[in-house]
Amino acid sequence: MAVQHHNGAIEIDRVKSGVPGLDELIYGGIPRANLVVLSGDPGSGKTVMCWQFIYEGITQFGENAVYISLEESEQVIFQGAKEFSWDFEKLVKESKLVIITVELYDFERLKVAIEDNVKAINAKRLIIDPGVIFRLFFDRELDARKRIVALGKMLRTLDVTTIITNEISLERESSLYGLEEYVADGVILLYHTRLKNRFVRSIAVLKMRNTEIMETLKPLKITSDGVKILAKAELFDEVT
Ligand SMILES: Nc1ncnc2c1ncn2[C@@H]1O[C@H](COP(=O)(O)OP(=O)(O)OP(=O)(O)O)[C@@H](O)[C@H]1O
Ligand SMILES: [Mg+2]
Repeated sequence: MAVQHHNGAIEIDRVKSGVPGLDELIYGGIPRANLVVLSGDPGSGKTVMCWQFIYEGITQFGENAVYISLEESEQVIFQGAKEFSWDFEKLVKESKLVIITVELYDFERLKVAIEDNVKAINAKRLIIDPGVIFRLFFDRELDARKRIVALGKMLRTLDVTTIITNEISLERESSLYGLEEYVADGVILLYHTRLKNRFVRSIAVLKMRNTEIMETLKPLKITSDGVKILAKAELFDEVT
């Protein structure tokens, strides 16, 4: 939903991520109902950032969430989130969060489950982590693309802001069957950048429809409070 100001400027409805520093890179937040692919190598912080997006979304901004996961069980997720003092179990009990753990699910059934659960708790945020689950569903790339495009359309209709994670390796950029190119409104990359003899965590917003973005790589920290982006720092300030 866009709000027209008296001076003619259009202010779009944005979703606050709850991740300190991230919204600054996107000039205020992710445009509502965008579908964002969060790419990064193993251990780069994709899951932690998703948890934070959900937790802060519910507790600070009153936006319920649906979380599609490949993790073994809800218990494993509860345990992991507790490390950051995020009580997902309570949120599930209060019907503010629904966790769907996918086993060998059928894609159409997953789509229906997403729709039903989003509507049931009036969710405004959706996480699919890891997005590689899409690969398990399809043998043929063309089939995958068609169905993922259909999923994207459905999510837009539901008015949920979605983050789908994508694993990339340092050597090889892999895409989720063109998900980034065809369906995503935004792409955020998490890196371990090598500087001399160590790795420095960093983040870059590659694209985000409907908004300006800051185009430089920024340093990122993970602590027991979650993920934090040093939006005002330059990456190389970190290293002296
Ligand atoms: N309390 C903490 N303080 C600092 N770093 C932490 C803390 N807890 C976890 N981490 C770091 O956060 C990272 C966890 O990242 P996360 O699991 O979100 O990665 P990921 O991108 O989802 O990886 P994968 O692709 O393997 O799923 C690990 O590298 C871990 O070292
Ligand atoms: Mg992960």
